Amino acid sequence: MSMQTNPIHHKRPHLPFGDQRDAPWYGQDILSVKQFSRDDLEYIFDVAHEMRVMVQRVGTFDLLKGKILASLFYEPSTRTSSSFTSAMERLGGSVIPINEVRYSSISKGESLPDTVRTLECYADVIVLRHPEVGASALAAKYARKPIINAGDGVGEHPTQALLDLFTVVEELGRVDGLTVTMLGDLKYGRTVHSLARLLSLFHVDLNYVSPDILRMPPEIIEELNVKGVPQAEHGSLEAVLPETDVLYVTRVQKERFENLEDYDRVKDAFVIDAGTMRRAKERMIVMHPLPRVNEISMDVDDDPRAAYFRQMEYGLYVRMALLAMVLGKA
Ligand code: NCD
Repeated sequence: MSMQTNPIHHKRPHLPFGDQRDAPWYGQDILSVKQFSRDDLEYIFDVAHEMRVMVQRVGTFDLLKGKILASLFYEPSTRTSSSFTSAMERLGGSVIPINEVRYSSISKGESLPDTVRTLECYADVIVLRHPEVGASALAAKYARKPIINAGDGVGEHPTQALLDLFTVVEELGRVDGLTVTMLGDLKYGRTVHSLARLLSLFHVDLNYVSPDILRMPPEIIEELNVKGVPQAEHGSLEAVLPETDVLYVTRVQKERFENLEDYDRVKDAFVIDAGTMRRAKERMIVMHPLPRVNEISMDVDDDPRAAYFRQMEYGLYVRMALLAMVLGKA
């Protein structure tokens, strides 16, 4: 089922003492990267940078003391769920984790609107991962509290795209002028859908390298064409590797295939290894939203250009920034 997203919601629920009435993000949902401007990104990254400094200096501080996050995951997650939990707890808040939906009333047939209406009685913000495109927009329609989309099927993963872009900024110092090559499962990978859209705010060259059956969806290519973003599709990495500043590798999304024989045919189509890195620029980065399966060999991990483990850490700071913003404290 696909539902229409309505990216910007202005929710300004009852303001408890001490919240900043004028904070621009107070009470807002984060559903799609389409809701962000370049100015917004600059603001988010400034706050994320401050969070980084504070975590390194003091570890944990009480900006969100007394606030509660409901973390509702209908799909598996390690990084997204634990980084949101860590973000909330490092800011002095606490978390209601619901990740075993089979032990919740969802397994009794409760609808998503009813589940979010329940959780917002107990929490101040809800982070939602769900297998259906548009699920977080549906949740946001019924919820009075902010909903943060932590992945809606093959749709979007806006907080991942924000941390991906923050990684680029922190690692390479700029976004304009870069050549970004996305590799792997561009059809089902929601992180590349969000990242391509977010990059369309900048002057970048985009390359898409994938097996034929996993190409970037035509509607996204069209959306970026309208914005004048140079994009090129390739069946192999070789031609574009020497000019690539950011190589964004993705896992083939096995769980989205209707036919597992198709998965077996393409699962190992691209593998980055030390040999690949010898043909890459000296100053470039390799990113991956993780989890990786086989697409990046472990012999790349010690290469200073391998940014995928650092990328996870940047995710903590971006998610701290987003929680503080939607709760009116940044
Ligand atoms: C990604 C996701 O869930 O879309 N993981 C993540 O959030 N870091 C990528 C993936 O599962 O391949």
